[in-house]
Amino acid sequence: MGYAETYAAWQADPEGWWTEAARALDWDRFPTRALDDANPPIYRWFADGEMNTCHNALDRHVAAGRGDQAAIIHDSPVTGTKRTLTYAEMRDATARLAGALRARGVEKGDSVIIYMPMVPEAVIAMLACARIGAVHSVVFGGFAAHELAVRIDDAQPRAIIAGSCGIEPGRVVEYKPLLDSAIEQSVHDPDFCVILQRPEHAARLGPRDVEWEEFQKDVTPADCVPVGGADPLYILYTSGTTGQPKGVVRPNAGHAVALHWTMKNIYGIDPGEVFWAASDVGWVVGHSYICYAPLLVGATSILFEGKPVGTPDAGTYWRVIAEHGVRSLFTAPTAFRAIKRVDPEGAFIGKYDISCLRTLYLAGERADPDTVIWAQNRLKVPVVDHWWQTETGWPIVANPLGLEPLPIKVGSPSVPMPGWDVRVLDEAGHELPRGTLGAIAVKLPLPPGTLSGLWNAEERFRKAYLTTFPGYYETGDAGLIDEEGYVYIMARTDDVINVAGHRLSTGAMEEVLADLPEVAECAVIGVKDDLKGQLPMGFLCLTAGVNKPHEQVVKDAVARVRDQIGPVAAFKLAVVVDRLPKTRSGKILRATMARIADGEAFKIPATIDDPAILDEIREAIRPLGYGG
Ligand code: COA
Ligand code: AMP
Repeated sequence: MGYAETYAAWQADPEGWWTEAARALDWDRFPTRALDDANPPIYRWFADGEMNTCHNALDRHVAAGRGDQAAIIHDSPVTGTKRTLTYAEMRDATARLAGALRARGVEKGDSVIIYMPMVPEAVIAMLACARIGAVHSVVFGGFAAHELAVRIDDAQPRAIIAGSCGIEPGRVVEYKPLLDSAIEQSVHDPDFCVILQRPEHAARLGPRDVEWEEFQKDVTPADCVPVGGADPLYILYTSGTTGQPKGVVRPNAGHAVALHWTMKNIYGIDPGEVFWAASDVGWVVGHSYICYAPLLVGATSILFEGKPVGTPDAGTYWRVIAEHGVRSLFTAPTAFRAIKRVDPEGAFIGKYDISCLRTLYLAGERADPDTVIWAQNRLKVPVVDHWWQTETGWPIVANPLGLEPLPIKVGSPSVPMPGWDVRVLDEAGHELPRGTLGAIAVKLPLPPGTLSGLWNAEERFRKAYLTTFPGYYETGDAGLIDEEGYVYIMARTDDVINVAGHRLSTGAMEEVLADLPEVAECAVIGVKDDLKGQLPMGFLCLTAGVNKPHEQVVKDAVARVRDQIGPVAAFKLAVVVDRLPKTRSGKILRATMARIADGEAFKIPATIDDPAILDEIREAIRPLGYGG
């Protein structure tokens, strides 16, 4: 069956279609029905089934004879090490850690925060939680202590599993002081912390801490515990419009079923083949396509600890592909822009035999045509843009190469996958004709593997996603669908920006800046950047009577955001201005400011209080190289 037939088969009988897909997994109890629709607009998939995600990711393959096959290859140019773990080794390591966690009182339903760099132990920790039905929440290493604290208070973890350090080019990032500071800032205290001591830096342990090996000494390995299909597997925090991140909850069974389906049908990966998602376990791409999906299908997953450039050079990606026989590479366009900038001719590519590579997949931000065409020409493989979100867990719109390669239209991530009824709506929720720009929404119910809610925040879940367009999920993206059904994603409809493929909240940055005593009022917008796609830019209005030099105020503001949100915010651009452009009702005109910064044409909003402020804004950012 090709794409059109498969999509039509899903449309004709969604429950039957997903029930068939579910048969690819092992179940302790096969669900009697796929969809629980008793409580719309909240839906649950495979709710009366029982299974275990870790069993399906590891034990199932060992039992089927894949025990000696590589499950994870850790390739770490930043530490100069490589390590392969087979399926049997992964199962044993996971069972040990799971046993140790249980011996210390971690039970089914308890949450565990994982704050680790890109090491195999991060994946082992995730799967160990899954093994005993505990709910993991991985926090990205580039976030500051304050962000970790916010997540600790929201997830209320019984335990935290952390690494002693991460390695960024040119510096060792000590995790332990960040962890200690986060626990100090949070109201909730975990019972204990397990610390993986890395050779690059040994953390000083306190009374609450226990070293990784010591923690697991003499424990009885834990078997996989059957969990309900709709029971949570993990919480992953993502940026919303405010400083309080949204705790996306991912249920077990739907996640496993959907991800398993995508590996062959979207990514064209068979069991035993090598798949590489060059992301981080702290992001959804890392959850779905470094950890879970490749293992669910019995493939080998590359865990790469490095950067596309500078570790040691712009040939690193090609070296990894050649050395490990990577079939499909998945990364963010920004990584390719970084490589292209350093090696515009692609000279490094010629140094390696990358004939094993079949496809490049891009997601996480808009894939700009220049980058797509450069990659097509240099790699000579199909370059597939695909669109999805932390909330959805897997691609909404893609080109399903494993099922049927569709013609690629540069600038479009292609077509909706089975499970996704994508519509473009106007502000009143009416469907717009083909080719017209509007809000992109998905008709409910969402397919298996998508978020079941926000952690302990059902009202926020409803308000953020289900209320604007009753009967639909609001994606927060704007775009259009063309005559042939290809979807185009143009912009966010909210204050979320995308910096180097990382999703960030301008609202969160504004909250941090507004806390500075010198700042009376502020705005943060996303401006275009050739490398990272977007960068945050701050506008600061000073409190009356402040006579600190403006350069110092800016310096303090930049330091404050780095300290509170983390280096990943990449907040380096800020200016002091006398006033902000607003509507007469007091709403800051952020979208207009962004167009001015990017040098784009814009209409002076009819509701603006004083149009002269727009010129002041342009003049203020000219020294930063923005404003046209
Ligand atoms: N722990 C601690 N700090 C981290 C970190 C981590 N895990 N990840 C990033 N940082 C820091 C970086 O060191 C940098 O710090 P600096 O301001 O001192 O230089 C800052 O956060 C910004 O990081 P980043 O946005 O990644 O920029 P970069 O300049 O280090 O690298 C790219 C730019 C394009 C090479 C990089 O973003 C990249 O490899 N992207 C690949 C795409 C990707 O992983 N996307 C994720 C979603 S698919
Ligand atoms: P995240 O939740 O971090 O994965 O970010 C999701 C957001 O990134 C989406 O809502 C989009 O705004 C953007 N995004 C992801 N993939 C694409 C893509 N292929 N094209 C355009 N935007 C994308």
